[in-house]
Amino acid sequence: MNKDLREKVRELGDVPKHIAIIMDGNGRWAKMNSLPRAAGHKEGINSVREIVRVCGEIDVSFLTLYTFSSENWNRPETEVSAIMKLLFSTIRKEIDNLDKNNVRLTTIGNLNDLPKETRKNIKNGISQTRDNTGLNLILALSYGSRQELIRAIRRIGNRIESSQIKSDDITDDVLESELYSAGVPDPDLVIRTGGEYRLSNFLLWQAAYSELLITEKHWPEFRENELLNGIIDYQNRQRRFGQTDEQIKA
Ligand code: FPP
Repeated sequence: MNKDLREKVRELGDVPKHIAIIMDGNGRWAKMNSLPRAAGHKEGINSVREIVRVCGEIDVSFLTLYTFSSENWNRPETEVSAIMKLLFSTIRKEIDNLDKNNVRLTTIGNLNDLPKETRKNIKNGISQTRDNTGLNLILALSYGSRQELIRAIRRIGNRIESSQIKSDDITDDVLESELYSAGVPDPDLVIRTGGEYRLSNFLLWQAAYSELLITEKHWPEFRENELLNGIIDYQNRQRRFGQTDEQIKA
């Protein structure tokens, strides 16, 4: 535990309520270490464990992890199957520990795409932790932001067709209520590891005013110090939401 960095985060105050992370670079980390790609994902679990723990300890309320995108199904069969197995075994091994630490597990994305056993395992984890009041760990699984928006628009269309609302009634709130992330505040901070400068179909609506932090560190190397330094970077920024510096200061 890095006491100095934690102290600094506490002093600066205004810890992000919701952090969302694009966990990239597992494959490159594995290659750098002459290991198969799956070993990179496996090592990535150690980062997941540490980041979840630290977020809980410093009172982050929501942590969304981009675990498997809608587009990741196009990877080679062997890699998809290795990630699904890892997901299954990680949830099985970690769920009691998460529960003990008051973490609530939820998901965004299309769980129906996942193998039956994995889906069942995740649903059990969600129901086991549903009353917990600490960190909400949100796994984005078979998630794509465009797909999420299309789904939301269809659901709103159904409400219009059944005369529950009129098209003029559509507001930000109405759209948000139909997203997978309904009820979750927008991310304050979106972190991408692995050094690429793109959002890759992640939380396109929700991240409209998020602060972005791109780090060269690969996900398996992203641990407590990297997270705390990222939060300190965030705490030193001014969020303006379209307003001027003067308006914010007033
Ligand atoms: C991106 O790295 C990583 C993924 C597509 C999978 C991440 C999944 C895990 C770490 C397992 C998570 C499990 C739980 C329970 C949260 P990449 O393969 O795209 O890396 P590269 O860009 O270097 O090739």
